[in-house]
Amino acid sequence: MLRTKIAGIGSYVPEKTVTNHDLQKVMDTTDEWIQERTGIRERHYAEKHKETSTTMGARAAEIAIERAGISKRDVDFIIFATLSPDYYFPGCGVLLQRELGITDTEIPALDIRNQCSGFVYGLSVADQFIKTGMYKNILLVGAEIHSMGLDFTTEGRNVTVIFGDGAGAVVLQPTDEEGKGVLTTKLHSNGTYAEKLAMINPGAHGGYHSEKMGEDIDWGYPETEYGQMFITQHMFDNGQIYPYMDGPFVFKMAVQKFPEVIMEALHSQSLTAADINLLVPHQANLRISEFVGKKLGLSPAQVWSNIQRYGNTTAASIPIALCEAVEAGAVKAGDLVCLAAFGSGFTWGSALIRW
Ligand code: UT7
Repeated sequence: MLRTKIAGIGSYVPEKTVTNHDLQKVMDTTDEWIQERTGIRERHYAEKHKETSTTMGARAAEIAIERAGISKRDVDFIIFATLSPDYYFPGCGVLLQRELGITDTEIPALDIRNQCSGFVYGLSVADQFIKTGMYKNILLVGAEIHSMGLDFTTEGRNVTVIFGDGAGAVVLQPTDEEGKGVLTTKLHSNGTYAEKLAMINPGAHGGYHSEKMGEDIDWGYPETEYGQMFITQHMFDNGQIYPYMDGPFVFKMAVQKFPEVIMEALHSQSLTAADINLLVPHQANLRISEFVGKKLGLSPAQVWSNIQRYGNTTAASIPIALCEAVEAGAVKAGDLVCLAAFGSGFTWGSALIRW
């Protein structure tokens, strides 16, 4: 039976480190608050005007490709997950193809807009294509440049202190080695709470969903005969261009959905939480990861956490964490690795991989 294996993995974080103490200088926050509520000590920010989700994704991809022992020209499908694309359109998939210098291969490129669960969704899509034999070297990238769009005033502190920039990538190949590879992926969504964690401007909503934000919001749309605008001066002046998060609400959903979707994957394979060797959760909040680990009866060492150093890098967080775990020798042949994510949408998912 054909399964999907991770043949190579790479990650990249920009050089610039921003500590909690640095953020304390520009907004009313403290290192104590951030560490106690999230576990985060520092995060990395991309170099201005030089680095983007595409360029960071390309650096991670080059490492993954090299480790897979293939050449860039062998990649036959690109999947790019990000919520912070270089352009509104086209997506980062084609830009990555150009950045890697392989436009002449004319391979397909697909963009995934699933925020924190983007990597798990991408893995699931890739898994289907590998299992059917359609592609043999899928490059899956998760990359984010949050530092470009955060509110660095006290107003935005609950969101801004959490996020960081970075990228991770894997090369996925078919394997017929008995029992190895991706055993299953489970995906879910519920759009009821779409605005609980969202950046809605610039957008094409035209005010249609305003009431879902729980208030009658003025977006400052000028009177025009046709159409509306993606963005208005009013949005800039009133801080409506930044991500919004109802933190406690998202937290409550996350601690419910993480264990649920992990157990769903385990049950489908007649496995239990005790079979997991390593859980690599989306790095949303150290308290969430610790809660999930405890709930599943895993030891702290079985739950990979690096949010302390990178913050929440959304679609990039799982591949960066998995890459670190592999580099640290924490994943051995035969291990059962579980990936899980929950985030904006809400969308969530899990994957079980026999290494
Ligand atoms: O990755 C996608 C999924 N995202 C998540 O899963 C995130 C889930 N949510 C969380 O991780 C947490 O809700 C946060 C870390 C975002 C916030 O922690 P919290 O313990 O839920 O705090 P809170 O939002 O309830 O705020 C508590 C207090 C408030 O002050 P008052 O109203 O009690 O006076 C906030 O204004 O903390 C204040 N606060 C801050 N204080 C200092 C909020 N942000 C900050 C800050 N520094 N950065």
